[in-house]
Amino acid sequence: MCGIAGYIGKKEGLPIVFTNLRKLEYRGYDSAGVAFFDFRGNGKLIKTVGKLDNLEKLIKNKKSLPLTAVVGHTRWATHGVPNKANAHPHADCDGKIFLVHNGIIENYQELKESLIKKGHNFRSQTDTEVAAHLVEEYGFEPALKKIVGAYALAVIYKNDPGKIYVARLGSPLVVGVGQDEYYVASDPTALAGLVKKVIYLKDGQRGVLSLNSMLIGPARPKIEPLDIDPEQAQKGDFPHFMLKEIFEGPEVLLSALRGRLMPDKGIVKLGGLEGVADQLRKVDKMEILACGTSYYSGLVGELLFEEFARIPTEVLLASEYRYRKLPVKKGTGALFISQSGETADTLAALRKANNHKLLTLGIVNAVGSSIARETKAGVYNHAGPEIGVASTKAFLSQLGVLTLMSLYFNPRKTKNHKEFLEELAAIPLKIRSILKESNQIKTLAKKYLKYNNFLYLGRGYNYPTALEGALKLKEISYVHAEGYAGGEMKHGPIALIDKNFPTIAVVTKNLVYEKMISNLEEIKARSGPILAIATAGDKKIAKLADDVFYVPKTAEPLEAMLNIIPLQLFAYYFGTLRGHDVDKPRNLAKSVTVE
Ligand code: G6P
Repeated sequence: MCGIAGYIGKKEGLPIVFTNLRKLEYRGYDSAGVAFFDFRGNGKLIKTVGKLDNLEKLIKNKKSLPLTAVVGHTRWATHGVPNKANAHPHADCDGKIFLVHNGIIENYQELKESLIKKGHNFRSQTDTEVAAHLVEEYGFEPALKKIVGAYALAVIYKNDPGKIYVARLGSPLVVGVGQDEYYVASDPTALAGLVKKVIYLKDGQRGVLSLNSMLIGPARPKIEPLDIDPEQAQKGDFPHFMLKEIFEGPEVLLSALRGRLMPDKGIVKLGGLEGVADQLRKVDKMEILACGTSYYSGLVGELLFEEFARIPTEVLLASEYRYRKLPVKKGTGALFISQSGETADTLAALRKANNHKLLTLGIVNAVGSSIARETKAGVYNHAGPEIGVASTKAFLSQLGVLTLMSLYFNPRKTKNHKEFLEELAAIPLKIRSILKESNQIKTLAKKYLKYNNFLYLGRGYNYPTALEGALKLKEISYVHAEGYAGGEMKHGPIALIDKNFPTIAVVTKNLVYEKMISNLEEIKARSGPILAIATAGDKKIAKLADDVFYVPKTAEPLEAMLNIIPLQLFAYYFGTLRGHDVDKPRNLAKSVTVE
């Protein structure tokens, strides 16, 4: 949420910062800006509403001299509408301080009132501007002490040119360490290919970066390798990141399973959990906590844990968990699922669970992120950077890791254990065969393009699949799509069904197949159009549904990994056919670092 970029070094900083903002645009795109002071203290502040293309036009003919400290920002509005005044960087009264911020200053109203009394002039409605005036009034460090809330800050001064002041509390900030140069970014993806070493600032850490020195404290900064392939953060030949990321599915799943799944030996190895293996054996209840798409993968995880690990499991929205008064029981494990590893609600829930001394585990994609660091043990997805705002490949890899974890916990191996592991290993190939049929989905998306309401139905493992399919469609197409459990449909949503309200049914051949068929009969009887995702060879469904997309047969607990693919593709084509920017859907942000 909100992208921050900064540079101080011998190169010309403005194009570098702008290019890095482009890589971060998925974090926010309602307004953007850059600011710099050269070594003589000459400054420029350029900002505009809208996506980065608008900013690019404004900076096209501008140059920043070498040795100039540059900061930039791409915004996702929290306080104040997206307009030029509210865009970052923000300035103090005299334009001697420029500041970019990610996070929320919770006490900004009180601070603003007291600063106004001291004679400060405000130009925007944002909480961030308060920080610029605070720094003006009290200086950098004392200003930080007055802020309640979360921040990642990068500040430059006219009177102290050639330096970037940085600080982090609650919102991520990374410093890229180069040869006589430093980069600042809210996400390490932006630094891939530019530096090999980074410092993930810890909460409470702050510092000053100048041409050839770096002073970070109070905790000693830890320099870590940056291991992101810059290619992965490029679209390549695909028109959108979202499509590229859906098509990466087979490889992503292979990376999640590599070295962990050993069907020939009949075992699952998870190095990240070895350190807590003894404690894991004592876990008698599992709580899974996450938001958005990660929450839906958690719902699949719940069924997997019940079926294989035989551990009672409850999935909770992280934002709700924080304020619930759940009894704390020793022996409860808390599993946090997050693609970004920075989602504020999930992080806050994790801190609560850590305070309660629960065994906290993570399934995280972003290496080195806050959730990865603060959980006691965990498993990385290894899905590579996910840039499309609507999560696709991360969901798939979460399902892969959850399946592995549930098997890792599996005390008595279930019947046909080895065959099941072999089937899991075959899923990437089966996904590949679905992707080969993507044109069929495009044709279906065209056919259904006229509808503005959709019901997504599924049962068992396919209930969360239906929820996630509906979420994908609403995120990028802005049409109403509701996911429902097949059996619940008759208790309400059936009232909506008529010839203008299609149902997308996940109705593969499994334990609840016949039940789903009955639910679909009820829809047919009310003239509701049906698009079914069904198992290859199923003739019965062809008679009932208006359209069918066939997927290969697999074991029921693995079905979600196959069935989600056509739903992701359907949302993608639907959104693009309606002319939307599916990589940057309106009002959304990739990494939500505010509550
Ligand atoms: C945002 C994103 C969603 C994502 C959710 C949780 O809302 O737009 O795509 O599922 O955050 O993110 P996380 O990084 O914790 O998985």
